[in-house]
Amino acid sequence: MPPRRLVDVLLERRILVCVGSGGVGKTTTAATLALAAARRGKRTLVLTIDPARRLANSLGLASLGHEVQQVDPALVREGAPSATGELHAMMLDQKAAFDEVVARHAKDPTAVQRILANPVYAQISGSLAGAQEYAAMAKLHDFDRTGNWDLIVVDTPPTAHALDFLDAPRKLSEAIDSPAIDWFRKLQGEGGSRWSFVGKTGAFVLKRLAKFVGSKFIDDLGVFFTEFNDILGGFRQRAEETFSLLRQPRVGFLLVASPEPMAVHEALAFHARLVSAGMPFVGFAVNKVHPSRPLPAGTTTASIEAALAANPAVAALGLSATSHKMAATALVTAHDELETLAAADRDAVMNLKSAGGPDALLVEVPLQRDDVHDVERLVALERFLLT
Ligand SMILES: Nc1ncnc2c1ncn2[C@@H]1O[C@H](COP(=O)(O)OP(=O)(O)OP(=O)(O)O)[C@@H](O)[C@H]1O
Ligand SMILES: [Mg+2]
Repeated sequence: MPPRRLVDVLLERRILVCVGSGGVGKTTTAATLALAAARRGKRTLVLTIDPARRLANSLGLASLGHEVQQVDPALVREGAPSATGELHAMMLDQKAAFDEVVARHAKDPTAVQRILANPVYAQISGSLAGAQEYAAMAKLHDFDRTGNWDLIVVDTPPTAHALDFLDAPRKLSEAIDSPAIDWFRKLQGEGGSRWSFVGKTGAFVLKRLAKFVGSKFIDDLGVFFTEFNDILGGFRQRAEETFSLLRQPRVGFLLVASPEPMAVHEALAFHARLVSAGMPFVGFAVNKVHPSRPLPAGTTTASIEAALAANPAVAALGLSATSHKMAATALVTAHDELETLAAADRDAVMNLKSAGGPDALLVEVPLQRDDVHDVERLVALERFLLT
């Protein structure tokens, strides 16, 4: 049975992964929850990806990449329920994380150097489907193994399609196992010149291709895929380990969504996918919700006009009755528009709630007036997320 409150998740689970589509608030939510756990006495690590500069600044992380850094304890513990917690943060450099995975599985240090220096690697390591998500999860796996943390909160990259995250290892394997790549790999087969190895037609195609991209590029490609093939076994094994880690009950997946139709659509698809993959879903955090603030009963344009007329500060402005009427009408119209947005958001939340089932945890965070870029504002979101 899923937990009833997010605060219980923070206190009971060891890994919390914030997933969701682009721009919904994953980084903000991960930072808020990690801070909240630290403020409740946990030794917490947040693995964050590309935080807004001002948020990184306010956590004291601005100048750091790919290194764990402790957030100033005084900042973390100010007004907190516990004075013993710690917040550590790391801005994950996904390219560096992917390089680390490669280095670990290469057969020797010179192979690492060759692969990292290979221009093909440089070109594709940043764009290989799922590579970045994979690297982030591999890093999580490393940190988990150290046993140093009470809780690790993981932010995930903005994926064009949220499901990429779960598909990452399979896509990577497929990309590297494809027949076209196998063909290139064979160019590096032992013995014989590369042109003869692929036969007449192959050699012809290669020569034509070399005219466009240069024969050095084709060599690089062959070398890359051969060497990469060597590390792929370790890579797959690691993917399996990571995925079995992510299925453990000490892990929780929090689906961050916003009430926008596209985000809800993606969140529903992601939820179905998490459930079918046996991942421990803990609930939805619906962020940037327009709150409903009904006017007091009996409020009409006329009652607002009357209130304006009776207000000494307004009277001092010496406005005409027509101006009062116009102001009252504008206020009521603006309020109606906000209520329409709030009603649409309410439907979106209900939609997610029914997908999650009666026991699913769902919290709503109202749309804030400003961006959430400092510790004070992160702490202010706690009350929406945790209760
Ligand atoms: N409840 C909120 N009200 C107002 N602004 C918010 C709220 N939550 C987050 N924001 C702001 O929205 C922007 C996007 O948030 P955030 O970076 O957390 O999203 P993300 O899901 O991590 O995005 P990406 O997919 O690009 O990584 C930030 O500027 C953040 O300060
Ligand atoms: Mg983000």
